[in-house]
Amino acid sequence: MFLTRRNLGKLAAAAMAPPFTGAAQPAGRGGGRQPLPQQGSAFPEKFAWGCSSSAYQIEGAVAEDGRKPSIWDTFSHTFGKTANGDTGDVAADSYHRYQTDVQLLRSLGATAYRFSFSWPRIFPDGTGQPNEAGVAYYQRLTDELLQSGIEPYATLFHWDLPQALEDRVGGWQSRLTAQAFADYAGYVAARFSDRIRNFITVNEFSCFTDGGYYSGDKAPGKRLGSQIYQVRHNGLLAHGLGVLAIRAAARPETRVGLADNPYVCVPAIETKANVAAAQSAMRFTNAGLLTPVLEGSYPDAYLTGLGANAPRIAAGDMQAIGAPLDFLGLNIYSPVYVTAADNAYGYALLPRPASSPHMASSWLYVGPECAYWGPRLASEIWKVKEIYITENGCSSDDVLTADRQVQDTDRVMYLRNHLWQAHRAAAEHIPLKGYFLWSLMDNFEWADGYSKRFGLHYVDFRSLERIPKLSAAFYREVITQNAVV
Ligand code: GCO
Repeated sequence: MFLTRRNLGKLAAAAMAPPFTGAAQPAGRGGGRQPLPQQGSAFPEKFAWGCSSSAYQIEGAVAEDGRKPSIWDTFSHTFGKTANGDTGDVAADSYHRYQTDVQLLRSLGATAYRFSFSWPRIFPDGTGQPNEAGVAYYQRLTDELLQSGIEPYATLFHWDLPQALEDRVGGWQSRLTAQAFADYAGYVAARFSDRIRNFITVNEFSCFTDGGYYSGDKAPGKRLGSQIYQVRHNGLLAHGLGVLAIRAAARPETRVGLADNPYVCVPAIETKANVAAAQSAMRFTNAGLLTPVLEGSYPDAYLTGLGANAPRIAAGDMQAIGAPLDFLGLNIYSPVYVTAADNAYGYALLPRPASSPHMASSWLYVGPECAYWGPRLASEIWKVKEIYITENGCSSDDVLTADRQVQDTDRVMYLRNHLWQAHRAAAEHIPLKGYFLWSLMDNFEWADGYSKRFGLHYVDFRSLERIPKLSAAFYREVITQNAVV
């Protein structure tokens, strides 16, 4: 199935209402009355509160200190591939402003930060000689985080594959890329496990496999038809070999996980039959990606259904792919609504009415229940013991006012509703251990370039100044109270 969360959103975008220009003020704290957390809205103690980002989306400095191009440099510099021809050449310039950005995290009170290593900074040619200057950057960044009491969660691959690997072996078309990833992951783990305790292998299988090599709306922009199943398998293998390489190279206390964006199936009406249907649907809609990672094998029906297009699976592959993880990261944005059905699958995925509300990105349909059902179904189906929401957030049509404010009440609404659902999960003792908001600041939103803003901080992409939005104040309050506010 090639229903990605982005092409789920291909329905006509709803017309936006004209901006409300009146003197909208967030509800004050007048009358000297201190707001109390709403009853029963507290999260468990030690719940991790963080923000997420990724290297190519924020760093810039693409040709500095020995970094060589990734497939995203090539793609974004190819005419017609990104909105307005935007590239990550400068992005939010976090490579130079990382101290400012850690300060932003501090002022939120965040206890964790999920960022990604840029593979082409560490191995500019994908394999071979590591680049000390690249290593040094991430040492500076992680030291800055640790000194600020912020726990680093490091993603090793967030889509910026070294271009050299695409050129030499066809990128994710080759299992050599999976091996190259494992070597890189092991190297980073050996160099950084003294200061980074949590590693995330890869981010979102479907985006860098299906998006890059099937629909082609992401780098490297290929459309390979039925070869995609091998590409997916190579992506899974990279994760699995990466887990093994990290465990072999890192200190024993190191924890390894994954950040994926599976279809999150939500029972349209919460009945026993629909919940069972949502469990089956979650398992089968993710049969080519997350399911084999958590089960150590592809569901038979998936392989049989593919026939001659099924991936070639070498001895040991499935064992690596199913290597036990310390935690599962879920990137959660939108749900797929499901009901029980009298068919061979036992479930039906419901079509989305054209009137379904969405945020500024046309694919980003609002259905906050996904922040509850994602963790719940993962713990029920796969008995996952530790779950993080590694991304949740939204794009808004942010307006910077003359007095330099961004009153992003729609983002606050989106976040609050998702947090209530995450809270329900935690309250029901589903092992949800933390929440990472996407994103700390506005950044390069892939093919949408800078046209879609996801940040808690507004970035003026000319001056590169960061300006906290209303949502930053909201999130600070959530963290301070450790509760939905
Ligand atoms: C993803 C990526 C992020 C995106 C975010 C908003 O989930 O696609 O992890 O890099 O920017 O999700 O689309």
